[in-house]
Amino acid sequence: MNTSYIEKYFSLDGRKAVVTGASSGIGRAIAIALANFGAEAALLGRSKEGLSITHQEIIQSGGICEDYIVDISDTDAQKAFFQDYMKKHDRMDIFIANAGINRRAELQDASLEDIEALLKTNYVGTLFGMIQASNIMKEQRSGSIVVITSINGLSPLINQAVYSSIKFGLEGAMRALAGSMAQYGVRVNSCAPGCVHSAGNQHIFSIDEFRKSKEASIPLGKIGNPEEIGNVVASMVSDAYSFMTGSTILVDGGELLRPKQKQPQTDAIK
Ligand SMILES: NC(=O)c1ccc[n+]([C@@H]2O[C@H](COP(=O)([O-])OP(=O)(O)OC[C@H]3O[C@@H](n4cnc5c(N)ncnc54)[C@H](OP(=O)(O)O)[C@@H]3O)[C@@H](O)[C@H]2O)c1
Repeated sequence: MNTSYIEKYFSLDGRKAVVTGASSGIGRAIAIALANFGAEAALLGRSKEGLSITHQEIIQSGGICEDYIVDISDTDAQKAFFQDYMKKHDRMDIFIANAGINRRAELQDASLEDIEALLKTNYVGTLFGMIQASNIMKEQRSGSIVVITSINGLSPLINQAVYSSIKFGLEGAMRALAGSMAQYGVRVNSCAPGCVHSAGNQHIFSIDEFRKSKEASIPLGKIGNPEEIGNVVASMVSDAYSFMTGSTILVDGGELLRPKQKQPQTDAIK
């Protein structure tokens, strides 16, 4: 392997990264991957214990990180975080908008309470963070933002209707922001995971029957691990992806592919 080639394109040495929802699941794996690629990671979340697990893992492998307790649904708290961060650091090179919650219901059964909770965290809180980060990056004329959406933001899951529609909205916002920010050298993309093991779905996949039927519906035959998203996201913000903006990388084990269908054996159908 030509390590200098790999380093030239994938190294994040010295880059300053911020990850929301770094206290668990996919966000933790993204923060760990970024740190292993060389970035200094700011870990955001509400759970002190969760952040400290991520923190320990990064420090043990020689990385650099710091924790911030921030509830992203509180825009004043987010604003204060961005001010504190920029006072302490001179720049922000990478922003990963990952934090999110889920509520399961078909649209006609969705409660107003669930709609408001999802909007507050997954839409308003997420967009607010992306806006703050893009304004910092616009000033410094460089940076890379990735928002974690979902396959459900490309094809809705009917029993996660509000969640899915908000992820569709984030896909649109990502493209709009990418169009505005390109002239300042700031890239904006999304990563859309399929089904991935995490704290949020552990209770469902601990039911054997459900897990097996889910695995059978995924062409690669398994539910993803958070690291399989973390490594993709760390690569996306590296210089190896310097020409990519306004794009979505789908990481779903092939779940959105149409299942193989038997074709009729007849000369009439070509
Ligand atoms: N797992 C999947 O199958 C899957 C598939 C597609 C997309 N996704 C997306 O991936 C992202 C991460 O989800 P996950 O599966 O890793 O779930 P998870 O393990 O439940 O993690 C969610 C993270 O979001 C943080 N969070 C939630 N509300 C927050 C708030 N108000 N303020 C700050 N942080 C908040 C949580 O931190 P605290 O509890 O510390 O606040 C936690 O770190 C989400 O955007 C989710 O929609 C997941």
